[in-house]
Amino acid sequence: MKQFCCYLLLCSFCIPALALPWSQFNQAKNYEGSSDLVDLQYHMGPVLSAPINLYIIWYGHWKPTQQAIIRDFLYSLSSSSASYPSVADWWRTVRLYTDQTGSNITGNIVLSGEFYDSAYSNGGYLSRLAIQSIIRTAVTSSPRALPLNTHNGLYLVLTSSDVRVQDFCRAVCGFHYFTFPTIVGATVPYAWIGYSGTQCPGMCAYPFAWPNYSGKPPPSTNGGNNILRAPNGDVGAEGMVSVIAHELAEVSSNPLVNAWYAGDDPTAPTEIADLCMGVYGTGGGGGYPGKVNRDSWGNGYNVNGVKGRKFLVQWIWNPVKRRCSGPNAID
Ligand SMILES: *[C@@H]1O[C@H](CO)[C@@H](O)[C@H](O)[C@H]1NC(C)=O
Ligand SMILES: *[C@@H]1O[C@H](CO)[C@@H](O)[C@H](O)[C@H]1NC(C)=O
Repeated sequence: MKQFCCYLLLCSFCIPALALPWSQFNQAKNYEGSSDLVDLQYHMGPVLSAPINLYIIWYGHWKPTQQAIIRDFLYSLSSSSASYPSVADWWRTVRLYTDQTGSNITGNIVLSGEFYDSAYSNGGYLSRLAIQSIIRTAVTSSPRALPLNTHNGLYLVLTSSDVRVQDFCRAVCGFHYFTFPTIVGATVPYAWIGYSGTQCPGMCAYPFAWPNYSGKPPPSTNGGNNILRAPNGDVGAEGMVSVIAHELAEVSSNPLVNAWYAGDDPTAPTEIADLCMGVYGTGGGGGYPGKVNRDSWGNGYNVNGVKGRKFLVQWIWNPVKRRCSGPNAID
C-alpha cells in the first residue's frame, strides 16, 4: 500500500491503502522477474494465522448479481473443488508468510456473516474514519447485528456505486487497517473496497478498463491484449474482486501494520500485493496485464472458482522465490 497519508499533512494517522495502478504504468516497474531491490521485511507483528471468519458489510445499494460474484470469489478462497489454477492456489502464495512463531497465514477463510447497510447509516460521503463507524453500526444494530469477533474476525466494508469515499479514485481503490476500541469497541482488522465500475473504472477496474484521462490510449502492443473483458460480465464487481484479493492478502500479512512490508517508514508501507500491482500473469507490468487465460468467449481470467466461475486477480509477492507469482505462471 503506497501511502496515501503523508502527502496530506493534516492526516494524523496513516492507513495502508491500495494505490492506483496508473503509477504502476508510469513507473513501468516490473517485479514479475526476481528483484534484489525489494526490501520486504518482517517487523515481528502477528499475521492472520488462525482460521479467518470473514464478515461482509454491504453499504448502500447492491445488485444481487454483483453480490453473488463477490461472495463466490470469497467462497473460492478455501475451496478445493475448483480446478487448477484456482483461487485457493492463488492464496497459497499468501500462505507462505509466517509470524515469529513460525505460524503461516491460514488457508481457512469462512464467510461467516453479512450485514446490509442499505440505509446508508453514515451518509453518501464517507471519511476514512467513517468506515469504522459503519462497522460499529453493523456490530450494534438490532436485531441482526454481526458479532464483534475479536478472536478471528475480519470485516470487509464494501461501498456501492453511488457512495463517495475520501481519497477514493483520487488516490486509492481500497485500504485496510484495524479498528479503534473507542469507535468500534475492540481492535479488529478490516478492509474497505469501493465499487469499481462507476466512479473510476479506468483506475480501480484495471485491466477491464483503462484510465482514459491518463491522456494515452491503451497500448496496442501484445496483440491488443492490454484491456480484458470481465469473465462474469461485470467490470465493476470484478474489478473489485481483484482489489478485494489485494486487500485480503495485505491485511492477512500485515493486520496491525507491524508485520510484512517493505520500506523504512511504517506509515508508508509497501505491502505484499503493492509490489505486484498490474501483474496478472507472466510478463505482466507496465500496462500489460501479463499472460492470462481466455474463456470460450475470449474473456480474460487467471484463476478458477466455485460454481464454474472464473476470476482475474493480481499476483502477490512470493517471499521464497523473491518475485511476483501466481498459479497461472507459464515459466
Ligand atoms: C509456510 O511458510 C513457509 C515459509 O515461507 C513455507 O516454506 C511453507 O511451505 C508454508 N506452509 C504452507 C502450508 O503454506
Ligand atoms: C472515460 O471513459 C468512461 C467510460 O468509457 C466515460 O464514461 C468517461 O466519460 C470517460 N472520461 C473521460 C475524461 O474521457
